[in-house]
Amino acid sequence: MKTLSLINTNLVSDSDIQLLSPVNLTGTDLHFGIVEVDEPHFDPNHEDNRNFVLVKVDAFSCNYRDKALILKSALKMAGSTGIDSLPFAFFGSDFVGRIIKKGTDVDHFDTGDRVIPDCAYPEPPFPGVAPGVVTNEASKGWLRLHKSKLVSIPDFMDDEIAASYSIGGQTSTSMIRKTGVQKGEKALVLSSRSNTSMFILNGLISKGIEATALTTSDWSEDEKKLISPTRLFKIERGAADWSKYSDLGKFDVIFDPYFDLHLIKAIDLLEQGGRYITCGYKNQHPHFVEASDKKTDSERIHQSMLTLTINNLSIIGNCIGTSEDLNKSIEKFDPNKFIVPVDNTYSIENGDKFIDRTYNRNTRLGKAVMIYR
Ligand SMILES: NC(=O)c1ccc[n+]([C@@H]2O[C@H](COP(=O)([O-])OP(=O)(O)OC[C@H]3O[C@@H](n4cnc5c(N)ncnc54)[C@H](OP(=O)(O)O)[C@@H]3O)[C@@H](O)[C@H]2O)c1
Repeated sequence: MKTLSLINTNLVSDSDIQLLSPVNLTGTDLHFGIVEVDEPHFDPNHEDNRNFVLVKVDAFSCNYRDKALILKSALKMAGSTGIDSLPFAFFGSDFVGRIIKKGTDVDHFDTGDRVIPDCAYPEPPFPGVAPGVVTNEASKGWLRLHKSKLVSIPDFMDDEIAASYSIGGQTSTSMIRKTGVQKGEKALVLSSRSNTSMFILNGLISKGIEATALTTSDWSEDEKKLISPTRLFKIERGAADWSKYSDLGKFDVIFDPYFDLHLIKAIDLLEQGGRYITCGYKNQHPHFVEASDKKTDSERIHQSMLTLTINNLSIIGNCIGTSEDLNKSIEKFDPNKFIVPVDNTYSIENGDKFIDRTYNRNTRLGKAVMIYR
C-alpha cells in the first residue's frame, strides 16, 4: 500500500520515490514522500503471534506529542548518510484500521473488525505488554499489535472521527474523572482550540457543567456555536499575567493542556479548594521555544505555592487514561452531539499539506486526518 513517510533526502531522491514539497516546522525543513509498503508476513498459527493481530490502517492523524518526535527524526536524518542512518521514518499515534489477520488466542476480534488504539496508562494491559501510546508509526499502514492495545468502534463512528479519537477521548475522560467536577461547579478550559480541550469541552457540556474557555485564536461564529453554551474569551498569547482578565471570575476546576504556558497564572483563578489538572506542556523540544514564552522564575513559583497552600488547592497530573475511560467515551459517543470537528481530510498526495495543517495553521479546529483507504 502507499504510505506517507518522512524521507532522508541524503539517501533517497525523487528518482526513487514521489517526494512532496518540504514542510517547515519551527525552522527545519521536513521532507515527506510516498513509499510503497508491502503487507508484512504474519502467520496466524505461529506461537509468537498467538495474542497479536495484523492491522491495516485506513486513516490516521497526529497529536501534539508527535510534533517533537517528527522533528527529532528529521534532525537525526539531516546530514546522516552513515551505515546506521535510516532512509524513512514513519509517524502518527492515532488511527483507525481493520483487523486483517489474527493469532490463535485472539477471541474478542474478528477479521474485518474496525479498531482504534487503546493507550491505557499506567497499568500494563496484559502481562509483559507496555502501557501507553500504541504506536508512533501509524503512517506505516501495516501494524502488528497486541490484542490488548486495541478497541472496537461502532459502525456509526466514521473513519475520519475514529482516526482522531483515542488519545483525545481517553485523556479527556480521565481528566474529567480525576477532577470529580460536578454540576453546579465552574470549569475553565485553557487553550480551548486544542484537540484535547475540545474533547474536554465535549465531556463537560454533555455533563451539563458550566464552562468557560480561553483561547488565543479567532473563532468563527459557527465554531463558537459548536461549544455553546460555553463562554469563550480571547486572551493575549504570551501575556505575562492575567490580572487584566479579572472579569473572568474564579473557578472550581481548571483544565490545562500546557502547564508551561499557564500554571502560574491559572492558580490565581482558582476558588478555595479548587483543582487544576494538566496533561502536557508546549516546549516538548528546544526548537519550540518562542520569545513570547515567559520564563517562570523561582519567586513566582514561591508565590504560587503560597496561594496553593492558603487556598487548599490541588494540582493534578494526568497522563492518558484507563481502558475504562476510553470505553466509556466510546459508549457515550453520539455523532449528533459530538462537538469535536474533523478539520480536514487529505489524500496521500497531499501529505505535505496534511502536516502543514496539523502543525502550522492556528485556524485548525479538530484534527487534520490522512485517509489511506
Ligand atoms: N499526557 C497525555 O496523556 C496527553 C494527551 C493528549 C494531549 N496531551 C497534551 O496536550 C497538549 C495539547 O495537545 P493537542 O494535540 O490537543 O494540541 P493541538 O490540537 O495541536 O493544540 C493546538 C492549540 O494549542 C494552543 N497553542 C499551540 N501553540 C501555542 C503557542 N505557541 N502559544 C499559545 N498557545 C498555543 C492553541 O490554542 P488556542 O488557539 O485556543 O489558544 C492552539 O489552537 C500537548 O501538550 C499534548 O502533549 C497530553
